[in-house]
Amino acid sequence: MIYLKKALGALAIAAALIPAAASAKDYRLGLITPPPHQWTKTAQAFSDVIAEKTDGRVKILIFPSGQLGNESQMLQQMQTGALDFAFLTVGEMVNRRADYGALLAPYLVKDSAGAKAILTGPTAQGLLADLKSLGLVGLGWGMAGLRQVVMANDVSTVDDLKGRKVRIIPIQTERDFWTMVGAAPTPMPLPAVYDAFANGQVDGMQIDFEGTWNSRYVDHAGTIIESSHMMLPMAAVASARVWPTISEEDRKTIEAELPGFLEKMLDNYEQIEAEYLEKLKGTDVKVIKADREWFGPAVDQWYEEWHKKSPLLEKLEAEAGNL
Ligand code: BEZ
Repeated sequence: MIYLKKALGALAIAAALIPAAASAKDYRLGLITPPPHQWTKTAQAFSDVIAEKTDGRVKILIFPSGQLGNESQMLQQMQTGALDFAFLTVGEMVNRRADYGALLAPYLVKDSAGAKAILTGPTAQGLLADLKSLGLVGLGWGMAGLRQVVMANDVSTVDDLKGRKVRIIPIQTERDFWTMVGAAPTPMPLPAVYDAFANGQVDGMQIDFEGTWNSRYVDHAGTIIESSHMMLPMAAVASARVWPTISEEDRKTIEAELPGFLEKMLDNYEQIEAEYLEKLKGTDVKVIKADREWFGPAVDQWYEEWHKKSPLLEKLEAEAGNL
């Protein structure tokens, strides 16, 4: 009889636990960076903390390297609610509203600290909130540091870039810049870049130091140009269809935890870039430095064009102290 009572008690406890287990849900977070990249590492660390803090109710599975599609496909999936979360470049946003492109203004900021100041400033925060018009909930900005240039040929002056196929993110801001430089901008999503560079389909690329080393673009490089000519912001977003289906308590946990991870990412980039540049300088690949003047009239031309495209550009310049 005592055993029967104990067994019934255990059954009652198990039954009480079932609703909690049933409310646990797997969510998916997509991104185009490979596993060793800061974005992917940050996503995984964030996911681990959220699982812990929500007692396993919110399990965010990470899909790196564009496994769920390119950014255009991921954005569409988020708009229908087929994808829950993503870390996205501003590429698809710029293609829908030019103002997002102003964040990539050449030499708007001079280092990662400047990029952080812009991304946490009022204009960028306004753009984050406006992502609702794209069916997204903007949860915060991160970034991939500053953009550099990796070329297969020997480069000394900007003339050595003329007519060269330079891989860019499919985004008008970058296309305009490289057209003005006199190169042949070649849009290509990140996961396709290694093969295209190794096979000579492109002569070079706009990229970060981290990817240059970790994805081994350096193995096919003739010159690395330390240009730090623009930042590459990353928007951490949730699907506006999925977000309200997550309990208020769990949404609050996500909103409370994510900013710390993004801030750490923004803070870490200064060191990450210095470390990877050091590694790259340790190879026999030529490394040169380029500044705004090195690019000739291209930067001024870019501003002339983009002041017409985005009224927010002037605001960002004022926030950066560049006016
Ligand atoms: C790129 O497409 O160049 C890129 C995208 C995300 C992070 C870093 C680089």
